[in-house]
Amino acid sequence: MNSAAPGQLIDGKAVSAQVLAEVTADVAALKAQGVEPALAVVLVGDDPASHVYVRNKVLRAGEVGIRSLEYRLPAEASAAEVLALVAELNGDASVHGILVQLPLPKHIDETAVLQAIDPAKDVDGFHSENVGGLSQGRDVLVPCTPAGCMRLLRDTLGDLSGKHAVVIGRSNIVGKPMAALLLGADCTVTVLHSRSKNAQALCRKADIVVAAVGRPRMIDAEWIKPGAVVIDVGINRIEEDGKSRLVGDVDFAKVQPLTAAITPVPGGVGPMTIALLMQNTVTAARQQHGTHLSAGTPLQAVAQ
Ligand code: GUN
Repeated sequence: MNSAAPGQLIDGKAVSAQVLAEVTADVAALKAQGVEPALAVVLVGDDPASHVYVRNKVLRAGEVGIRSLEYRLPAEASAAEVLALVAELNGDASVHGILVQLPLPKHIDETAVLQAIDPAKDVDGFHSENVGGLSQGRDVLVPCTPAGCMRLLRDTLGDLSGKHAVVIGRSNIVGKPMAALLLGADCTVTVLHSRSKNAQALCRKADIVVAAVGRPRMIDAEWIKPGAVVIDVGINRIEEDGKSRLVGDVDFAKVQPLTAAITPVPGGVGPMTIALLMQNTVTAARQQHGTHLSAGTPLQAVAQ
């Protein structure tokens, strides 16, 4: 679909179901060649949100036929213990993807752990080898949330070439890789952050807005050019009218009428992240075994 009707909802649930169907077919094809894709998920400590995320990743893996291995270490686990586990998983040829759930307990150096993961198994795309590769436009594993946003944008707009994209937020997990992916798709890219001057006015020039700041409903109608496509990465829990609600970084009620298309929260970007994690796991398995199946979305198409 290349021309969006005003205020159209971008249905992340439907697109993620499509990605998962593609992954399921790819997993079956790999298994027919004697390769069982496997994902190891490492959780350290007892952050309740992380427990939910890890459980969902393991469940989704099972649904698409990916073998999952779950490792839970106590909050007091030492960095050496975590690094030893990563080393063991790096050396296990039957494991194709390794994901260490973030955040790690404060006494563990997150960067050191992420850098210890074999870049070929780094399904989060957080290792500097993959971060650098993305920046250079090489065929590498790319972070799941931004890759999911790219899939939604391509499904909505088709070719992104020449569009002005504004990314709000500069995190390593979303903002920076998102900017690199948009640049790789020949967008003109502006990254806004907490120190940006005239952020609203700059954002109002954008054809594409990707909001990833973690502040509930920060982006209102003043930020949006009529006809823009808006991707809301924010998932913020707020108390309102005596109820607990999930809201995005975008004030949906005020912004939707202005847009050509917009992701809801929940049901937009959220379901895409896990779907792209499954896709990365299949890509990693395929690359480690040197098999070249006709994949749903070739990695190059995501990264470029
Ligand atoms: N914690 C929040 N988001 C992520 C993610 O994308 N990957 C990992 N490993 N941990 C996270």
